Amino acid sequence: MTINIFSRGPSLYSTQRLVEAGVERGHQTTVVDHGLCSPSLGEHGPSLLLNGTPIPKPDVSIPRIGANITNRGAAIIRQLEVLKVPTTISANGLLLARDKMSCLQVLAGNGVQVPGTVLCFTLHEVRRAGKTMGSYPIVVKLLESTHGVGVALAHTPYQLERIAEGFLRLQDRVILQEFIAESDGRDIRAFVVGNEVVAAMERKAGPDEFRANMHRGATARQVELSAEDEALAIRAAKIVGVEVAGVDLIPSNRGHLIMEVNASPGLEGIETHTGIDIAGVIVEYAVNKAFKLDLNL
Ligand SMILES: Nc1ncnc2c1ncn2[C@@H]1O[C@H](COP(=O)(O)OP(=O)(O)O)[C@@H](O)[C@H]1O
Ligand SMILES: [Mg+2]
Repeated sequence: MTINIFSRGPSLYSTQRLVEAGVERGHQTTVVDHGLCSPSLGEHGPSLLLNGTPIPKPDVSIPRIGANITNRGAAIIRQLEVLKVPTTISANGLLLARDKMSCLQVLAGNGVQVPGTVLCFTLHEVRRAGKTMGSYPIVVKLLESTHGVGVALAHTPYQLERIAEGFLRLQDRVILQEFIAESDGRDIRAFVVGNEVVAAMERKAGPDEFRANMHRGATARQVELSAEDEALAIRAAKIVGVEVAGVDLIPSNRGHLIMEVNASPGLEGIETHTGIDIAGVIVEYAVNKAFKLDLNL
């Protein structure tokens, strides 16, 4: 089969591993920089341009869209959908996963337990929500944070206002969230591919840190999820519409809550800590999907 991996970084660990996995399985695997792609429509039908020239349609595509290029990435995936190229993520799934609030809204609307969360558009709303939420600290988040960069902890109303004020200069909205103190800096990353959790790890935030992101110095260890947690992670990924997903669960006094569904989860941390060939599972999933669609199964 021909596989296009859409990635901006051919030398990134995750991209290299996917290429390796594709080649090992005998597929013609190409990295395409979606930062140079544009969708095109016209008299001769739709096509996907790379540097202005149409590229041949692959049998299947695996998009790895970074958070700083979500809109272009979604437009490229939309074009793949138009061209009937199977992909491992839909354009709508990517857009939903990238908006933390919309993602939590849709999850909550489907009965999934999420942390107490308020979306605020003004400093006045932040002040009021801070009062209503009552107990400090309060977590303040940018809508499109990654690697924990847009996630901060406010211990006082003064800090809450200052952090929110800064975030509101970057985006027109800010998220306030109940701080799950009992998680003790831990969360669980469940790596979902299709209908399966293929690996899971518990991440523990480094010293003086509450964010359990690997990029923030968290440590990790492989864990076995209960059948219930596996079902929860798979369900969350399905609701958001992401077939290859890093679903983050946070342990709380009222059970495991879903914190977010990552649409382009990194492979390095999870492969290193679990020893599982996740790239291989993703490639096989993508190829299988293409086969099934081809046979109209
Ligand atoms: N409400 C919360 N209570 C406790 N810890 C949290 C909360 N929200 C986020 N965290 C910690 O911060 C990390 C980053 O938050 P997250 O919303 O996943 O942002 P990002 O998308 O930048 O990773 C989480 O993995 C978790 O360890
Ligand atoms: Mg996260």
